[in-house]
Amino acid sequence: MNPYPAYRWLQTYAPVYHDPATRMWLLTGHADCSAALRSDAFSAAQGQQGRARDDALPPSMLTTDAPDHHRLRAPGGLLLGPEAIRSVADGIGHEVDALLDRSGGRAGELDAATGIGQPLATAVYARLFGLEDAERPRFEELARAVSVNLDPMAGPAAAAAGRAAMGELNRFLDAVAKRHAVTGFDCPLSRLAADDRLTRPEMLGILGLAVVGGWQPLAETVGNALYWLLPRPAAVEYLRRSDEQSARTAVDELLRLEAPIPFTARVTTREVELPGGRVPADARVLAVLAAANRDPAVFERPDELLLDRSPNPHLAFGGGPHFCLAALLVRQTGALLLPRLLRRFPAVAAYQERARWDDCVLPRRLAEYPLELGPRHSDARGRNTNDMEA
Ligand code: HEM
Repeated sequence: MNPYPAYRWLQTYAPVYHDPATRMWLLTGHADCSAALRSDAFSAAQGQQGRARDDALPPSMLTTDAPDHHRLRAPGGLLLGPEAIRSVADGIGHEVDALLDRSGGRAGELDAATGIGQPLATAVYARLFGLEDAERPRFEELARAVSVNLDPMAGPAAAAAGRAAMGELNRFLDAVAKRHAVTGFDCPLSRLAADDRLTRPEMLGILGLAVVGGWQPLAETVGNALYWLLPRPAAVEYLRRSDEQSARTAVDELLRLEAPIPFTARVTTREVELPGGRVPADARVLAVLAAANRDPAVFERPDELLLDRSPNPHLAFGGGPHFCLAALLVRQTGALLLPRLLRRFPAVAAYQERARWDDCVLPRRLAEYPLELGPRHSDARGRNTNDMEA
């Protein structure tokens, strides 16, 4: 399904729209979404509780407002802040190379999500959490199972299964943290677990949120990005030649066009006048980030892929106090994967006509996106673009 024409219609004619069917207020303009994300009149805590069903997100920074939010977010930096990401960046680079080695050895079709996105996301978390190789399959199984908690439309049976899986994930991560405490293993998770500003449930709540809110969006970003890149030879060539900095800029543009988290919920604590209209107190609000990301009032040629777009004030990572704590990690991972993949496999191609968007609204993901990697470039690590010109 392509939601963008409907978003554009709302943005043009009713940027602050009350939907009588769901009794929710939809914000589709960039200025409105941006203002809502930054205003203390829009409660994230109530927004998360007020979703379509009881959700199983553990108490965490996403389900709290100031001042509790700040208290939880500050130590969260030990897991996902710049220092934490620097400490795992080389490891993630090795994981990318190993994954491309394995994928390139397989003949035939490969699905973007199950073949690349999901194993990559698992490998990234393995580095953040200090998982042993033997623990990765169990972690991935749990991460997949708890991801249902991200989808507000999941039915009661799926939601109950998601809640049960959350308990399992908590126990799994608790055991990993205890092991690190005994062995002295150093990684972002062990640094977070050693921080005495948090209670144990709060620490596990941050880890749980990182998995529920991040594993699947990170995994799906790969397919969503390739979906835009592969049919555009000039974009492929640009990224193949990009250094890490321009690749990070390109990742932002790919996320702008196909935000894996297309909206987020809030509840107003008082009446608010937004640029696009008035929202009453106690209103359930959806800030439609994916619509804001293509607002022609902010983005020139909003439906086109311009990999060097700068500035790029997209809202794929949200904004304001709840701005995605892992934005750096996501950019870094994308910037490590995409250019290397395109260099290693110069003939990579997609069966674009078989691409199928999932019915699930959150995350926005391709249910099917088959790729053919083709022969490997002789440059084993894909780092030397000059070779390719020879
Ligand atoms: C492409 C992948 C991702 C996207 C598009 C994304 C997007 C977002 C968005 C839109 C929010 C704000 C939600 C709101 O305001 O209601 C958010 C918050 C958050 N994200 Fe991400 N995210 C991604 C990956 C990750 C990953 C991999 C992690 C962890 C490893 C993560 C951890 C978090 C956390 C902890 C928050 C809550 C921050 C707070 O409430 O202060 N995200 N993310």
